[in-house]
Amino acid sequence: MFQVAIDGPSGAGKSTIARAVAKKLDFIYVDTGALYRAVGWAALSRDIDYHNVEQVMPMLSQISVDLVYINGIQAVLLNGVDVSEEIRLPQSSMAASGVSAHPCVRDFLLNTQREIAEKNNVIMDGRDIGTVVLPNAHVKIFLTASAEKRAQRRLIELEDKGIATTYHEVLDDMIKRDYNDSHRAVAPLKPADNAIIIDTSELDLEQSIDAVYTTICSIVEK
Ligand code: DC
Repeated sequence: MFQVAIDGPSGAGKSTIARAVAKKLDFIYVDTGALYRAVGWAALSRDIDYHNVEQVMPMLSQISVDLVYINGIQAVLLNGVDVSEEIRLPQSSMAASGVSAHPCVRDFLLNTQREIAEKNNVIMDGRDIGTVVLPNAHVKIFLTASAEKRAQRRLIELEDKGIATTYHEVLDDMIKRDYNDSHRAVAPLKPADNAIIIDTSELDLEQSIDAVYTTICSIVEK
């Protein structure tokens, strides 16, 4: 199976770009953030303090989180129920970032991610795919952009979904999550040693898709 790992901070365009490139290559696109978001949502909906590992750990034995593909589109199931919409709420983003710092949560989700990559050609996006989940991935890309550009893009996405927020709220949220994600003790966000870094700050969507696609093809051809 061919494995492409795409890591990077939130809002760098990973999911949109990875989804488009996966379609061109006829690979499965795996959004691993959705798994952490589902665990975050599980904590929120049970009134659990997601920073507190004493509360999060016992919750893990009561939940199952699965990724399924319906007409090629990924959906995330929490105890068998599709929570694909709930996990996109801004509060789920912070909860996901919070729970993702606990080693027990990362262990809980590791096999789900590896199993998909064993059975399919994948483009998998996340924070630690090239460093931890698929350390032998054939291609590792670290996709990044300035915090301001990422906040502008995320604001448009949230507005399109009818979620009320402001640029400053989104930017603050993003800076906080970047800090949490890159400073946690386990599997922090950082490029793998052999990752190719692509900065999309000055690229539009088409150019970003092209940059990622060309990078993958150049490695496949070698
Ligand atoms: O990619 P995303 O913004 O949907 O991810 C939500 C949160 O989940 C993010 O703040 C960090 C965490 N995450 C992680 O720690 N490891 C991953 N592989 C994917 C996401």
